[in-house]
Amino acid sequence: MLVNAAGMLKAAKAGHYGIAAFNTNDLEWTRSILTAAEETQAPVIIQCTAGAAKWQKGFKVVADVVRDLVDSMNITVPVAMHLDHGSYEDCFKCIDAGFTSIMYDGSHEADFNVNVEHTKELVKLAHQKGLSIEAEVGGIGGTEDGVTAQGELADPDECAAIAELGVDFLACGIGNIHGPYPANWAGLNFDQLAAIQAKTGDLPLVLHGGSGIPKEQVLKAVSLGVAKININTELQLSFHKATRAFIESGKDLEGKNYDPRKLLKPGFDAIVETAEGLIKDFGADGKGWDF
Ligand code: 13P
Repeated sequence: MLVNAAGMLKAAKAGHYGIAAFNTNDLEWTRSILTAAEETQAPVIIQCTAGAAKWQKGFKVVADVVRDLVDSMNITVPVAMHLDHGSYEDCFKCIDAGFTSIMYDGSHEADFNVNVEHTKELVKLAHQKGLSIEAEVGGIGGTEDGVTAQGELADPDECAAIAELGVDFLACGIGNIHGPYPANWAGLNFDQLAAIQAKTGDLPLVLHGGSGIPKEQVLKAVSLGVAKININTELQLSFHKATRAFIESGKDLEGKNYDPRKLLKPGFDAIVETAEGLIKDFGADGKGWDF
């Protein structure tokens, strides 16, 4: 069933587990994520960037695919359809397209006051329409869809100012990076996370760049208030690895394995397996209707 993400994240924060928020790239990606969520009986967030939505020919296509698959696959666990790193304009488009949750990423605005003003307006609109809303303070490192930030650490006072606007969950930089982590990565900054949690209370916090962070660090972050863990690269890497292995083994040349349903199946099976493993690592399995 499609829901907004507020209730599941509140329950996750209270219950000290993390909800996986997986980025989707196409219909099969969405189907694989839904399969993993249903098999583990976990609430899940399917999210999409503007770039991935452009690839799929628009936010409405993405939302309609999620909605229709939830129906046709008889998905019983709660599923939220969320915009990832949206601009101010993207948020309006996703509200119209039928998303159940939006993220306004005002962390790149030159002036913090612009982040505050836009977030305030979008909180009001999202809540009027029954959607949940995520905001962001402090750029996250790495590059995603051409947007680069230097992995700055979020200022706890700025986090408190955005939290007060009534957002449902908040992304805050704590040394995390999108994409693979470099060998010399310093790890998550737990002092910063603790300082942010101290100023934002019960508000569920969001860990972007969740791919490749050692499990102990993710679980420590969860113990300090993180309730949503964003994963994109890790599913892409497992799809790539399995697809490459299939082709390198020469199996693609056997029988009718040129059929995309056969050629791409190992990759999509790998997404299901990786997603199930992460859901279990975060402790969300069996938490389908914990709220
Ligand atoms: P990764 O690609 O590093 O998993 O990050 C995903 C993310 O944070 C989406 O917002």
